[in-house]
Amino acid sequence: MRRNYFIKETTVLIFVALFFSSTISSVVGIDYSSEDMKEKDLISVDQEYLLPSPQFIDMIFEESIMRRMSMRNFTGDPVTDEELSTVLWAAYGQRDDGKFTVAEINGSHSVVIYVLLENVYKYNPENHSLVFYKEGDYRDIDGMQYHAPVQLGLCWNTDMADANLGSAECGAVGQNIYFAANSIDLGTVITAQTPVPAIEPVGLPPNEEGMGIMPLGHPVIDYNFVNRPIYLSLLPRIKFSEMDLTTTLEEREEVTSWEGNSISRKDLSHLIWASYGYSYYIDKSKSNVVKRHHTLPSAHGYYPFRIYAVTKAGISRYIYGLFKIDFFGLPIVSFLLRIDGGDRRPAIAEASESFVSNAPLCIIPVLDIEKTIDWDDLSDESLRWIWYYEAGAAAHNILLQATSRGLSGNIVTINDKEAICTLLKLDNEKFDPMFIIPVGK
Ligand SMILES: Cc1cc2nc3c(=O)[nH]c(=O)nc-3n(C[C@H](O)[C@H](O)[C@H](O)COP(=O)(O)O)c2cc1C
Repeated sequence: MRRNYFIKETTVLIFVALFFSSTISSVVGIDYSSEDMKEKDLISVDQEYLLPSPQFIDMIFEESIMRRMSMRNFTGDPVTDEELSTVLWAAYGQRDDGKFTVAEINGSHSVVIYVLLENVYKYNPENHSLVFYKEGDYRDIDGMQYHAPVQLGLCWNTDMADANLGSAECGAVGQNIYFAANSIDLGTVITAQTPVPAIEPVGLPPNEEGMGIMPLGHPVIDYNFVNRPIYLSLLPRIKFSEMDLTTTLEEREEVTSWEGNSISRKDLSHLIWASYGYSYYIDKSKSNVVKRHHTLPSAHGYYPFRIYAVTKAGISRYIYGLFKIDFFGLPIVSFLLRIDGGDRRPAIAEASESFVSNAPLCIIPVLDIEKTIDWDDLSDESLRWIWYYEAGAAAHNILLQATSRGLSGNIVTINDKEAICTLLKLDNEKFDPMFIIPVGK
């Protein structure tokens, strides 16, 4: 009887051990030391570790956007497999309908995510797994700015996209990482340095390039927000929808035709705010610094974009913060400034895609090149990919905000930037319009 019990127990233990050797059960579970790996030869290049199901994120989408901020210091606590699974699925997972959690740009997806633990893995969205890529711990190598239990390397496939469009898709993925991390009390920050982003020493395949690194971990300081809306806005107030983050990511869809020809002021206000506005939340996380964050990050905190809204009535510029008094957490005036009257959508369509002329609203993020100079000059054409990250993040925010309001949009590249600058009354030597984002019902 005792012997039988022992045999049964041993069989169960062997079974459990085998199961956990092929299924990632905890970060520690896949942190095989190099010696272990050589000894057991458990991991081959093709070895995949299925991640557990991602957690359902029930935070309302607008709340995720209000809480977005960069965190740079992390405790030594590990990120659990479920947390990693949740962040990776939100970042670039495949949904039930086969689509990704970010939109295609120019008809393709190009992002590749490296997951740096004690060894290097590649995220496989198809079956939500980690694929062993390379032995070795690269989390603290030169170029990594912050120490964290997980470093996510955002790269793009150069066969699928150029540096600008690859970086723009990374911008969408990066937003999802910020939102998901924040919603489960983890923290992150996009870091990108030139000339060589820190991921490249890992040894990327010849058709991949590194865009940036996002450390992921438990922040040393707790998130601490106080709701203080922007009362001075001349635009309708931002209201929370009833849509949680997971559903918003699941339901986003790109369309090329819309019902009707107009957009309500409420929808316009939400969509344009999501693209680049300030949060209603004051961040009091860092004891004596009070700060109102934007809906997306910006390299060096430059925030050099102008945002334009084009409807059948005309073209307006979104003034997202007239007075920079956010240091005290005071309200900031935001409104739409009319640039031109009349329906300019057909002309916008001529410079991009014909279907844009039917969109009730087109939002255009335009880089103000002079605003990328300041203390560190990031204005050179060869560095434009840095700013495409931000344009991609803005476009993604608009698509998610559209989803939570029952609307749909698209991300459209521009064929004739000079024509768009002329329409917006801008000097095309000084401004770079990056995408058209058509939206409507
Ligand atoms: C393309 C890009 C590159 C960035 N690179 C770095 C970086 O190298 N190091 C860093 O600490 N923050 C980096 N940031 C984050 C910004 O500094 C941050 O977004 C900005 O200061 C605003 O703060 P917030 O994100 O907390 O609102 C980068 C942001 C972007 C969009």
